[in-house]
Amino acid sequence: MCGIVGYIGREEAAPILLDGLSRLEYRGYDSAGIAVWSQTEGLQVAKAKGRLKVLSEMVDGGAAIHGTVGLGHTRWATHGAPSDVNSHPQVSQSGHIAVVHNGIIENYVEIKEFLQSKGVEFVSQTDTEVVAQLLEYYYRGDILEALTKVLHRINGAYALGVICSDCPDRLIAARKDSPLILGLGEGFNFLASDVTAVIKYTRDVYYLDDGEIAVLTADGIQVYNHPYLQPVHKEKHHVDWEISAAEKGGYEHFMFKEIMEQPKAFRDTISPRIQDGRVVLEGLNLTAEDLKALDKIYVIACGSSYHVGMAAKYTLERLLRKPVEVTLASEFRYCDPIVTPRTLALVISQSGETIDTLAAMREARRLGARLLSIVNVVGSTIARESDDVLYTWAGPEIAVATTKAYSTQLAVIYLIGLCFADLMGTITPEEYAAVVEELQNIPDKMEEILSHREDIQYFASIYFNHPSIFFIGRNIDYAVGLEGSLKLKEISYIHSEAYAAGELKHGTISLIEPGTLVVALASYGKLFEKLMSNVVEVKSRGADVLGVTTASLEEEMAKTVDHAIAVPDTHPMLLPSLDVVPLQLFAYYVALMRGCDIDKPRNLAKSVTVE
Ligand code: F6R
Repeated sequence: MCGIVGYIGREEAAPILLDGLSRLEYRGYDSAGIAVWSQTEGLQVAKAKGRLKVLSEMVDGGAAIHGTVGLGHTRWATHGAPSDVNSHPQVSQSGHIAVVHNGIIENYVEIKEFLQSKGVEFVSQTDTEVVAQLLEYYYRGDILEALTKVLHRINGAYALGVICSDCPDRLIAARKDSPLILGLGEGFNFLASDVTAVIKYTRDVYYLDDGEIAVLTADGIQVYNHPYLQPVHKEKHHVDWEISAAEKGGYEHFMFKEIMEQPKAFRDTISPRIQDGRVVLEGLNLTAEDLKALDKIYVIACGSSYHVGMAAKYTLERLLRKPVEVTLASEFRYCDPIVTPRTLALVISQSGETIDTLAAMREARRLGARLLSIVNVVGSTIARESDDVLYTWAGPEIAVATTKAYSTQLAVIYLIGLCFADLMGTITPEEYAAVVEELQNIPDKMEEILSHREDIQYFASIYFNHPSIFFIGRNIDYAVGLEGSLKLKEISYIHSEAYAAGELKHGTISLIEPGTLVVALASYGKLFEKLMSNVVEVKSRGADVLGVTTASLEEEMAKTVDHAIAVPDTHPMLLPSLDVVPLQLFAYYVALMRGCDIDKPRNLAKSVTVE
């Protein structure tokens, strides 16, 4: 949610900043801007409402602006509608200080009123402008000193980049509750919201922590704590993935590329953790005694990660015979959660930066829970603040709608379930062996589904104009339906809802009318007949039904539904990993046929770092 990048070095900054922004655009794409300093021109600011390409054309790909130090920003509007003037960088009244910001300054109204009473004139409706104006208000020749005073006054979340035309040999960065990394180069340095923006230039990074301030020059970086400005030693991290992982590589959309990458991502996530038929979770320090003593597992997550949690509830409760409560992270802090030192908080997040999830997990810790997280982005805040982390090895996920992160999160849930059940003695050796074996077959079975993607494309061509689509399922099929429905609505803008099939007749069925599309998930064999009864109910009210089931049940299902999609048979616990693939493809093709902006759906952004 908003991406920031800063470069200081010996090359022309503008093209580098635009390139960095192009890799951060998934974080927000309603406007973009850059500020570059040069000896002759001073601080030059270019910003524009709209996608990055509008800005890029405005500055001729960067060729129109000269200077070797600068900041860039791509925005997801919170305070102030998307407009040229509300775009970042925000600049102080004199034009000497420019600021880029990701986060929210909660007390900006009070600060704005204070500064206005001192005669400062504001030009934007943003919360960020108060930072630029307050910096100028406190500035007495030392920008670092001014920044510490500003940080003392502002409340909220921020990743900040600051440039001041009085000291253009440095960039200043500060962070609290919004992600910020520093990229270390030879004769240049970067600040950025995440590593994708700098990986083309350097793989060595520092992860800035909350309450830290960094001063970047072309030749070095010094990090200080706030407010004492004592030097802080930072550990250098090496990023080991290739730039190509964050590029489209010939695919039309990142989302499609990421759907197709799922077999590999799943394999990469499980393979190193299965040795001689046993699940080995390195770095997980929970003993059999710890696990047996657990009073419950609290799953904390948002959006699709929450849907993984819904699937996890069915899997983990069955395997561990412990209560699993799944809660939306944004609700957790406000529901007076019952957490004890015997509670395990299982935190699921692709980005590792979702602010609601982070805040909820901090609350869980405060209440005494132990924190185990499943995270994709290495070194992210959630990963660093957890007691134990299990990474999903999905590689960078760029499309706003998650696919491969969802699949690899599920993979880690299965590994956790197997490992814990083994330690606790709640699984028979036979079942353990059967699930481990079948888990390793999932990537091949995903490949099989992907190889038949034209069938899904055909179904999408039949249904892409339906105004409203319902997903129904029972048990794990319901959990997958939630994700199928979210995928569809977020990228195709078709109204869609997912229901536990048994709930239909408690109200929702009144929405079913001739021509309504119902996607019926009936892969869980035990409940197949029950689900098919619900299918008959909606069919008798005129619904079109697209069914999803397993190969062995396809023939039976085809007798009732309009069209059936079959996934290969597998162990029932693992079905969500296969069921979700056709639903992702269906959402993708529907959105494609409706001409939607698939990788950047309206109003959304990846990595939601504001509450
Ligand atoms: C939907 C989607 C979102 C995220 C949610 C949580 O396709 O991607 O619903 O799942 O914003 O994000 P993370 O997992 O980064 O915490």
